[in-house]
Formats: sequence, structure tokens, C-alpha cells
Amino acid sequence: MIAHFSRRYTFSASHRLHVDHFSAEQNRVAFGKCNNPHGHGHNYVVQVTVSGPVDPATGMVLNMATLDAAVHTAVLDRFDHRNLNHDPLFAGQTSTTENLCCEIYHLLASILSPVTLRSVRIEETENNFFEYSRTSLAAASHAT
Ligand code: NI
Repeated sequence: MIAHFSRRYTFSASHRLHVDHFSAEQNRVAFGKCNNPHGHGHNYVVQVTVSGPVDPATGMVLNMATLDAAVHTAVLDRFDHRNLNHDPLFAGQTSTTENLCCEIYHLLASILSPVTLRSVRIEETENNFFEYSRTSLAAASHAT
């Protein structure tokens, strides 16, 4: 039997969507207002889900304090009140929330191993949310 445990975290960060080798017009068409040179901010809500058997001794999939420590160290300390574009992870790719999900997944998966990180879901705004999960082909190749 596999159980899933999800927990939400929040952080605030700024970013700008921009591709260096696009023309100004191509960037405007691709990203609209999100290409504004001054950037803009989001209050990101990150939902992390871990999965696994329930430990018969504790009755838990993973200790909440262990998950909190991992997320604080790998995600919140790194991104909260920062400009995502200045992070080396986004030096070669746009700081979209799709890419942010993917990067946070891989940052956390290595720390949480051998516990399985099932998915990282991020709410960027009230209406926009993104998810990167272990069942996707790209994730499956990284997470065993
Ligand atoms: Ni944005």
C-alpha cells in the first residue's frame, strides 16, 4: 500500500520571462507583459507530495519535520525574496513556472531520497498552476 503526503509552502520572488536570442518582438509575442524589463513578482505556493509505504512504527510516510527541513534548505532559503533570473538554475532557461517546478522537483528529489517525491505543484497566481510529477517521462528518467 502506498500513501501520499502533501504539504504547502509559500515564497515570494520576482522574475522576467525573456529569451536572449529572441528579437524584442519575438519576446513580446511569446511573453507579453511578463517580458517587461523591470520584471514582476509572484507569491508562489508550492505543494510538495511524497509517496511511499506507511512506516508501521510511526504510521507516517515521512516525518513532517524532515520534509520541512528539506524544503526550507533546498527551496525557500534559495528562492524566497530573490530574483529567479539571477539563480544559476535559470541562466540557460526561462524562469517560467513550468521550469521552476522541474528545478524544484530535482532539488528536492535528491535530498528526500530514498523517499519518493511524487510531484511538485506550484500556484503562480490564483488561476495559474503547474505541476511536475514523477510519472512524466522527463521526471522518470531522473527519479528512480
Ligand atoms: Ni510571472
